[in-house]
Amino acid sequence: MALTVLTHPLAAHLLVRLRDKSTPPDQFRRTTSILTTLLVLEATRTIAYAETHVATPIKITSGQILSQALGAVPVLRAGLGMLDSVVQLFPDVAVGYIGLVRDETTAVASRYYRKLPDLKGRFTLCLDPMLATGGSATQAIEMIKAAGATNIVMVCVVAAPQGVAQLTHTHPDVQIVSAALDEGLDDRRFIVPGLGDFGDRLYGTE
Ligand code: PRP
Ligand code: URA
Repeated sequence: MALTVLTHPLAAHLLVRLRDKSTPPDQFRRTTSILTTLLVLEATRTIAYAETHVATPIKITSGQILSQALGAVPVLRAGLGMLDSVVQLFPDVAVGYIGLVRDETTAVASRYYRKLPDLKGRFTLCLDPMLATGGSATQAIEMIKAAGATNIVMVCVVAAPQGVAQLTHTHPDVQIVSAALDEGLDDRRFIVPGLGDFGDRLYGTE
């Protein structure tokens, strides 16, 4: 399976804060940001690098520098909460945006916005904290591939088995990195136990 679940104790600790229904939006946003840093370190583990030499004050030594550019595409709204961490870690990142919203009754996502740079050759992260049915991620990855990306990682906070199965089926080449693999979905296709509506928790709406 193309799924990696973070096992770091700090990631687990931060996830509990996000799951806690009493965590207010300001703390929720800060916690999302820190957890995303951990997720992105894992998600970019296979980005290309090149050998180099560097002169320290003592002597010349060898090292590695990144040799592949990064692309990041947050899926609005919830994915926006993950973007700042990526920009901090990779200041030269090219950022695109995809707007998708699920119908409240059918849980089928429809697109309302798309603005993507040329992603050819870029190691590309699709940022969306919730992988529930996998419908939104499937659409987002289709658009990211149409923009030229071939090396794509889906970065999530919580994934449901149904979403992982769906995305693995539709885009078997895409890696998934998540802080948790939860039990399943309820009858509204919310993740169980999950953390509720990520966008609402992030922005204090409902
Ligand atoms: C949420 C989430 C994903 C989607 C996941 O977005 O951010 O994009 O649901 O569900 P799926 O795997 O079943 O497609 P939502 O539609 O709630 O929009 P929002 O981020 O604007 O709140
Ligand atoms: N979107 C969310 O924000 N939460 C879920 O549990 C499922 C989809």
